[in-house]
Amino acid sequence: MKPLNIGLVGYGFMGRTHSNAYRQVSNFFPLEYRPVLKAVSGRDAAKVKAFADNWGYESIETDWRKLIARKDIDVIDIATPNNLHAEIAIAAAQAGKMVLCEKPLAMNTPEALKMVEAVEKAKVPNMVWYNYRRVPAVALAKQLIDEGKLGKIFHYRAKFLQDWTINADVPQGGAGTWRLDVNVAGSGVTGDLLAHCIDTALWLNGGIDKVTAMTETFVKERKHSETGKMEKVGIDDASAFLARFKNGSLATFESTRYARGHKALYTLEINGENASLAWDLHDLHRLQMFDHADKGYVRGWRSIHVTDGDQPYMKHWWVPGLQIGYEESFVHQVADFIQGLSSGKPANPTFRDGLETDKVTDAVLKSARTGQWESCQ
Ligand SMILES: NC(=O)c1ccc[n+]([C@@H]2O[C@H](COP(=O)([O-])OP(=O)(O)OC[C@H]3O[C@@H](n4cnc5c(N)ncnc54)[C@H](O)[C@@H]3O)[C@@H](O)[C@H]2O)c1
Repeated sequence: MKPLNIGLVGYGFMGRTHSNAYRQVSNFFPLEYRPVLKAVSGRDAAKVKAFADNWGYESIETDWRKLIARKDIDVIDIATPNNLHAEIAIAAAQAGKMVLCEKPLAMNTPEALKMVEAVEKAKVPNMVWYNYRRVPAVALAKQLIDEGKLGKIFHYRAKFLQDWTINADVPQGGAGTWRLDVNVAGSGVTGDLLAHCIDTALWLNGGIDKVTAMTETFVKERKHSETGKMEKVGIDDASAFLARFKNGSLATFESTRYARGHKALYTLEINGENASLAWDLHDLHRLQMFDHADKGYVRGWRSIHVTDGDQPYMKHWWVPGLQIGYEESFVHQVADFIQGLSSGKPANPTFRDGLETDKVTDAVLKSARTGQWESCQ
């Protein structure tokens, strides 16, 4: 295997999932390139060093610009808060690096478009970390839909529910809680959680034509971690929208961080004329299917345990019946990215694919303001 030198920016939650994926992928997938943990970058030298030692990075940088300038780095991997994605990605592309970027691609559509233009102008491989595409049960849903098993699609519905911001004492800004600061996050649950639901939906069911939405900010002021002052909250705490897909199907999407009892409940369901599929992140190795072609006396929802060698990704893991989990979706994404480098057929979602989700989230936020249906074009 040839080396593929990784330069990671940001060492929080996603820095860990990505590092774990780089370390595991070559043990399970036969690939032309082997990721090498060359350098990790962050502002706090002591913390970055501790992260580098823990995960096996060879070196550290405290300025991402220095990381990008290094000749020994092939891939810049952006795992920072959303307000930094564009600046880092554009600089990396201009330096000729491959760029992997966390979701959402950018703070808004115009910024995302600049990122797409930068990677396409530089002709550098690029990908957005919408990892739920790589959960085997979700990949099986894609396969069944593409095979025509569902027939004409009538409905799509998705939810992403959490409950961690109900307490008004949770601050905005700073490590982890940057998600509540609109200047860093861009938006609230729409760009953070619904972006995942939208990406999966676009992949499974095609483009969205238009949306009508409502959002709410339940806690209007929160203390800012950096200023220590109470400041207005600019993000959406909850967001729900109706959508019309280009294929004629109707959809509902809902997300909140105020659904007491739910930690990360991402569910989706798709109903076609011949069959329906449903998936739940809390039971992520299972795909629920109802097939109207079954004989009437045995017809019912079946629960497919996606663990067998002829199901997506699973032949690379253990033996049939033994399941995998959340972390492996990132391993699959790295494997697909590297296979894309070898085959010349880029792995999805590319930056251009990721741009489509930003267009939908912008239309959702606009509709919540105007009270009108808004186009996603
Ligand atoms: N794919 C997924 O399922 C998923 C899940 C969570 C987060 N995310 C996305 O990943 C990104 C990071 O989220 P996270 O949960 O890892 O956040 P985090 O707060 O856990 O980590 C962010 C990291 O960025 C660093 N950082 C912040 N400002 C910086 C700066 N100016 N220069 C350099 N480094 C800086 C922080 O020190 C930290 O190491 C976000 O875009 C988020 O939307 C994706």
